[in-house]
Amino acid sequence: MKGIVYILKRFLPPYKKYLLLTFIFNILTAILNVFSLATIIPILQVLFKVNTKTYSFISWQNADHSLIDTALNNINWYVTRLIEIYGSSFALMMLAVVLVVMTLLKTGTAYLGSYFIIPIRTGVVKDIRNRINDKILTLPIGFFTEERKGDILARISGDVNEVENSVMSSLDMLFKNPILILIYLTTMTILSWQLTLFVLIVLPVMGFVMGRVGRSLKKSSFEAQNKWGELMSQVEETLSGLRVIKAFNAENKISDRFHTGSNLFRRMSNRIARRQQLAHPMSELLGTITIAIVLWFGGSLILGGNGVIDAATFIYYLTIFYSIINPAKELSKSAYAVQRGLASMERIDKILQADNPISDAPQPLPLHFDEKIEYKDVWFTYNTDWVIRDVRLTIEKGKTIALVGQSGSGKSTLADLLPRFYDTQKGGIYIDGINIKDVKLRDLRSLVGYVNQEAILFNDTFYNNIAFGVAKATESEIVEAAKIANAHDFIMATEKGYHTNIGDRGGKLSGGQRQRISIARAILKNPEILILDEATSALDTDSEKLVQEALDNLMKSRTTIVIAHRLSTIMNADEIYVMKEGQIVEWGQHASLYTQGGYYTKLCDTQANLI
Ligand SMILES: Nc1ncnc2c1ncn2[C@@H]1O[C@H](COP(=O)(O)OP(=O)(O)O)[C@@H](O)[C@H]1O
Ligand SMILES: [Mg+2]
Repeated sequence: MKGIVYILKRFLPPYKKYLLLTFIFNILTAILNVFSLATIIPILQVLFKVNTKTYSFISWQNADHSLIDTALNNINWYVTRLIEIYGSSFALMMLAVVLVVMTLLKTGTAYLGSYFIIPIRTGVVKDIRNRINDKILTLPIGFFTEERKGDILARISGDVNEVENSVMSSLDMLFKNPILILIYLTTMTILSWQLTLFVLIVLPVMGFVMGRVGRSLKKSSFEAQNKWGELMSQVEETLSGLRVIKAFNAENKISDRFHTGSNLFRRMSNRIARRQQLAHPMSELLGTITIAIVLWFGGSLILGGNGVIDAATFIYYLTIFYSIINPAKELSKSAYAVQRGLASMERIDKILQADNPISDAPQPLPLHFDEKIEYKDVWFTYNTDWVIRDVRLTIEKGKTIALVGQSGSGKSTLADLLPRFYDTQKGGIYIDGINIKDVKLRDLRSLVGYVNQEAILFNDTFYNNIAFGVAKATESEIVEAAKIANAHDFIMATEKGYHTNIGDRGGKLSGGQRQRISIARAILKNPEILILDEATSALDTDSEKLVQEALDNLMKSRTTIVIAHRLSTIMNADEIYVMKEGQIVEWGQHASLYTQGGYYTKLCDTQANLI
């Protein structure tokens, strides 16, 4: 209960207005329902001609009678007058019309009650999704390990839906069903407190039996949901691994695996559906038993003739009693939905409330880059082993440095530390003597341009992909950037030129073309510092030449960190740093380094290793 109140407090405030409306319309519905059913009494009395009493009109201001008594008496008086003047049949018709009109009003308010709950439901869900998305954007890259990525998608889809259900259930639980039940119970007590007392004893027993059935249902549906998740992740795997599956002729294997899982899921579904179907007759049976018991008890009261309740009122009583069953059922159902929703909310909060170690300094310093970038005694680890050990290096403004070393030696990591994709554990990185942790992230990152092995493109036009990092770019600037990046010609060859959509993740383009788009993007951003992380290593020789040309254009008059496997790029660097197991083991310019005959010489000689 505390948990759900906490959720509501967090997410409902923007929707208070709707909540109030729902609340009001639910009360109206309950009251109207009580009154619309009340028309049954005179209808029955007319039909069975049981009302032989003669009524006389009581003035509404009469102080001797309570308002309810006065109202009942006057209605009866009016009905008997109708019968006297127009006949029973006409009176019956009038009562039927009243019943219809009252029901119309009641269903109208019930509809409005749900009508105003809808914007709450969709609003809360929208807010949670947006919050997760925005949080993902602010969290550091290190937060998203591979297994976490799938998890986050599951949370955005499955868990948010679960919360939706639970919020809805709890709204019903707090603002609808109790109102209905309370008003119906009050009416029942006014009609006959003896009967109501009896009902209050019988009901909980029946509720308990129904609860047992429900619980076993919950357990198996939970298992089935897990199985469903497994199946979905298999499909995901199939989709992303389709190339490998086909190449290894593994279709049958994958197919068998899926079929086994999906058969199992089917058997579970059978079991659940059958049990669910069982719940129906069970509840009907139990409901009828309850009604039968009440019927017997109430009937005995009437037959006993002690004036506790008359037959018509008793039938009215039963219909009100019947109206309680639904809200009561829903109330017990919502308790379960709320539990699941809370569990989901907890999972969502692991993201929403994850703390973000990489954020702006409380009092950020202004950032200028006029002299140099310094790595001072930098140590870094992803989790346990040091990946960067005690690295010291200086990059003068306008110079190009190259990082070389075997795969896994920490080159990418070292470069990633500069735009603060990760933070150093020991030591620091300084730009003109200012620690990059002391400036605004935005300022820092607007200094840095980044092109890596995998060109990240978005499902959008060439134009927007190039304009990605720049708020206001003119068409001519974009074309200019594309030209420098050697991308203009192939873009113009497409159907709509710059406004051609490149498809999901740029799948329609070759590796070289994608890379040139991402270089055009970097050129347009015109950063002072450029990081090129194996920007050409995924390309074949032909496109590599075009891309290399583009890169050379990009590097002109810029401070650059290149991580490359091509000797020519490295040879022109002002300084080469050779990395081995996270340390810088040698540095200098190509000619002098090579003649040293050390690790660098070995790397160059086996050029293939220089990745
Ligand atoms: N996201 C990560 N989480 C954990 N370990 C990582 C991660 N990225 C890289 N590593 C590890 O850090 C080391 C250096 O990797 P990296 O900087 O990518 O090397 P390089 O770019 O020189 O090939 C490797 O041992 C690699 O396994
Ligand atoms: Mg790398």
